[in-house]
Order: sequence, then structure tokens, then C-alpha cells
Amino acid sequence: MVGAVRDASPRWSERQLADWAEPQLARVEDALSRWVGIDAPVLLGEAMRYAVLDGGKRLRPLLVLAASEAVAPLAPARTAIGDAALRAACAVELIHAYSLVHDDLPCMDNDVLRRGKPTVHVKFGEADALLAGDALQALAFELLVPDEADIPAAVQARLVRLLTRAAGSQGMAGGQAIDLASVGRRLSESELREMHRLKTGALLQGSVEMGAACAGELPAVVLAGLRDYGAAIGLAFQVVDDILDVVADSETLGKTAGKDAAADKPTYVSLLGLEGARASAQQLLAQALAALERSALSDTAALRALAHMVVDRDR
Ligand code: IPE
Ligand code: IPE
Ligand code: MG
Ligand code: MG
Ligand code: MG
Repeated sequence: MVGAVRDASPRWSERQLADWAEPQLARVEDALSRWVGIDAPVLLGEAMRYAVLDGGKRLRPLLVLAASEAVAPLAPARTAIGDAALRAACAVELIHAYSLVHDDLPCMDNDVLRRGKPTVHVKFGEADALLAGDALQALAFELLVPDEADIPAAVQARLVRLLTRAAGSQGMAGGQAIDLASVGRRLSESELREMHRLKTGALLQGSVEMGAACAGELPAVVLAGLRDYGAAIGLAFQVVDDILDVVADSETLGKTAGKDAAADKPTYVSLLGLEGARASAQQLLAQALAALERSALSDTAALRALAHMVVDRDR
């Protein structure tokens, strides 16, 4: 399976991944707590902070930061990468958190538990949940175009463009629309793949591409490798989400298990069975790792470890 491996470093252990991730997560948590819900009318600010802080695996920020580190040696001026990457990491997490708040609303999946807590609309009411989602989305883009930061205008513009594509009608929002229109229907595998690619894959792929964009212009081979890696783990992530909905319990997940079958949603498990869905996730992992090999990057250990985490996770 392994061809001309450019990055010959061994696979990280869980401990190595945790040692890398802990300081990154601390920076993200600190930045989010400084940026989210500040100067908002009080109830809105509270709802925004409730939706974002103290919870979630923060996979998307980790992907941004890992991708930005992998391309850092190729950046012409390395100084601004760290600030741009931290802003991009927080911005994708805000879009993700907003998508969860809206996904849980009674008009969508009607869920009462998220990240181990009552959902935002249960705690604050539907109107404030809707507005908290709206405000988180706006804040995400505001973070990418700061007044004071030393980030080249072209990098800021590229980050905004990548995030709009990942979040909008050709990304998450479009996928969510297909999801809602598919309740009770049997989709073909390619229709299901398209739905998952949009509703979940786009934002994960976007996270990887945004991390890369922090370095400015990059060789096409690097961009293509990272884009293919992001697409593969993005799809794998939702396949595993479908599996966990069946095999995990609500306490472990921090959200109500068994919802997909109860709501008659088409999923990888309903289409392919558990073993078929697991095999798909493994195939996508292999595709993601192969794409990294093609990227010609010299250090992809963190990205590889995150790909394994996406597929091996239990929550
Ligand atoms: C859940 O995402 C929603 C999907 C896109 C499948 P995560 O499993 O990343 O949720 P958190 O951020 O850890 O809560
Ligand atoms: C949600 O997919 C994808 C989003 C864009 C939020 P799900 O509806 O399967 O996510 P969970 O299972 O509620 O987290
Ligand atoms: Mg949903
Ligand atoms: Mg849901
Ligand atoms: Mg789900």
C-alpha cells in the first residue's frame, strides 16, 4: 500500500498526539473565551458562550493547526502564520458550533442533549438559539479580517472564501438541506456520499485548506494532497458519526444516541450495515493517508494521527 513515502516518521502513539494537541487546545480555548459573546446583549452573549465553550472535541481547530504547521516550512514569511492559524481554527469551530445549535432545533433534528448538556434552545429558547447561531456565524468571519493583526490581505480573503464555501449552500447548509429532504427516503450510495460530503465533509476539508492557506501561495501538489486528505477524512468523519449513533451510548457521546434510526434518516449504517460502514471508514482512512503521501510535505505526523483519530474514535 505504501509507495514512495516522503514522510517516513513513525505513526504517533495516542500519547504523542495528546502531547501535541494539549497546548494547541489550550490556545484555542483561551482565544475562544476571549472572543465569543463579548459585548453582546447579555442573554445572547450567554447563549453564544454556552454553545461554544467547555465542550466538543475541537477536531476542526486541530486540523487547521496541524495543516498550518505542516506547510509552515514552505511559507515565505513565517511570522504571521500562527495568528492567522489561531483565528482560522476558532472561526471554523464557531461555524461548527453554530451548525450544531441549528441542527438541534425542533425544526431540524429536535435534540435535547449536546456536548453533555441541554441543547441551546432547551436552555435559552428557540429564538435565542437561532440568534446565537446567527451571531456565531458572523463572528467567525469577523475573526478572519482583524483590524490590528499582521495577516496579509490576500491570506485574509482566501480564508474568508474557503470558509464561505464550506459553510454555505455548496457546503454545510446545502448538505443539511439534503439531509432534511431525505428523511424516510432510501438514498443510493452516491447520493448519501454527496449529502455527507456537503453537510460534514466540507467543513473538515475547509479546515485543512484554511490551515494551508495561512502560509500564502503553495505548490499545486501540496494543495491537492491536502484537499484530498481533507475530503477523505471529512467523509469518514460523518460515516463514523453514523456508526456511533448506533453503537455508542448517549452518555459517551454527550448527545442522544439512536436518533438516526428513530428519525428514519438514511445513513451509512442503514444503507451498508455496520460492517459495510466500518469498511467504508477504513477505506477512507487509507485514501486520506495516501493523499498525504502525495502531498510531498515533509512532516505530516499530526495530520496522520488526526486521520486515525477520526476513524478510531468512540465519541
Ligand atoms: C458532530 O460533530 C456533528 C457532525 C458534524 C457529525 P462533532 O462530533 O465534531 O461534535 P463536537 O464538536 O465534538 O461536539
Ligand atoms: C450534523 O449531522 C451535521 C451538521 C452540519 C451539524 P448530524 O445531525 O448527524 O449530527 P449530530 O449527530 O446531531 O451531531
Ligand atoms: Mg442533522
Ligand atoms: Mg443532528
Ligand atoms: Mg449524527
